[in-house]
Amino acid sequence: MSTSAQLRAALVDGFTGDDRIADPAWENAARAVPRELFAGSFFLPVAGSNPTAYHPVCKGEAGWLEQVYSNETLITQLDGRIRPDDVAGGTVTGTPTSSSTLPSLVLRMWQQLDTGAGHRVLEIGTGTGYSTALGAHRLGGAAITSVEYDPVVGGAAAAAIKAAGCAPRLIIGDGLLGDPDGDDYDRLIATCSVRHVPPPWLHQVKPGGKILVTLSGWSYAFGLALLTVTEPGGATGRFLPGWTSFMMARPHDRPPRQSLSLLPGDERPTRIDPEVISTWTGGWVAQLAAPSAERMGAGGQQILSDVATGSQARTMPDPGGGWTVVQRGPLRLWDQVEDAVEAWQAAGMPHQDGFGITVSREGQQVWLGAEGGPSWNLPI
Ligand SMILES: C[S@@+](CC[C@H](N)C(=O)[O-])C[C@H]1O[C@@H](n2cnc3c(N)ncnc32)[C@H](O)[C@@H]1O
Repeated sequence: MSTSAQLRAALVDGFTGDDRIADPAWENAARAVPRELFAGSFFLPVAGSNPTAYHPVCKGEAGWLEQVYSNETLITQLDGRIRPDDVAGGTVTGTPTSSSTLPSLVLRMWQQLDTGAGHRVLEIGTGTGYSTALGAHRLGGAAITSVEYDPVVGGAAAAAIKAAGCAPRLIIGDGLLGDPDGDDYDRLIATCSVRHVPPPWLHQVKPGGKILVTLSGWSYAFGLALLTVTEPGGATGRFLPGWTSFMMARPHDRPPRQSLSLLPGDERPTRIDPEVISTWTGGWVAQLAAPSAERMGAGGQQILSDVATGSQARTMPDPGGGWTVVQRGPLRLWDQVEDAVEAWQAAGMPHQDGFGITVSREGQQVWLGAEGGPSWNLPI
């Protein structure tokens, strides 16, 4: 057995608990597809750096292959242009814009998609092509179409997929528009996150078909949803357990902003402890309530800045206990967040899997508990 095959076998053998691959056909794919063809050179975060700095790990250097077979996400591009081979030693900062997602998550999502023989699958976000190759190995290349936004990334993926002996259909373009030539898909899987479910997907996946996608927003909170298409333009589903996050689909990402000036406004005591929106699901609830806001700060000192209206809210601890919120602008961001958090607290503060989503031609709502419960409109 080659070193690569040994490392691959060790990676798969290490998938235990929630990471265990239940379906032997997916396990075969994981044991067969060499990740080093896809990851090439990559960035690793420098521990403890703030803002996060990355150091390049270049193909072939000592320890490279072992790192390829770690169950880690390997970042392959920063800021839409910087690749590891562009950085000669040293470190670099930037926003990750392409990666090879951690293998256990890729495999879990393929299984959650509940796909099998005869299905036509549309993947959004080819990235390095690793997940595409796993899908093509399991379902056959003819079953898979994958769309990548970035032509350089897509070109590298195409070469790697070919080297792996797979032949899915690959498209360079905006996957939020789906497949420009096709419909009638049985499944859609997205490995980039979106602020709402792109309407073209709801016409290209057949009624009864499924969409697996991570919903996110400008406060960078995430929920992985599995939807069933109910009719052209409509779908319903629930969020799944776990802690899945993905970089945002490029057209949905937050517009760049200049430095933020915190301005005076109306003051009042808060009804909730602001710290709660620093938690995984508390941040998700706050994002649902203020969907065009960016969240900064932490603990008792939260800052919300609305990208669309310039509205602001910021909290601060009071010397005698409790917290004050200062709000200004047309949206009362903290009022919205507080109402949502109180509804969530009244429901027992469930994880994202306590929420569901309904999509129709009229709009998209995330609801808490069951349809008809407290709900929030997604920004479209
Ligand atoms: C997390 S990476 C994909 C990981 C990949 N599936 C793998 O296993 O290597 C996300 C990818 O989505 C791509 N992307 C972002 N917005 C997109 C869009 N609108 N359409 C298609 N791809 C997009 C990014 O360029 C990036 O390559």
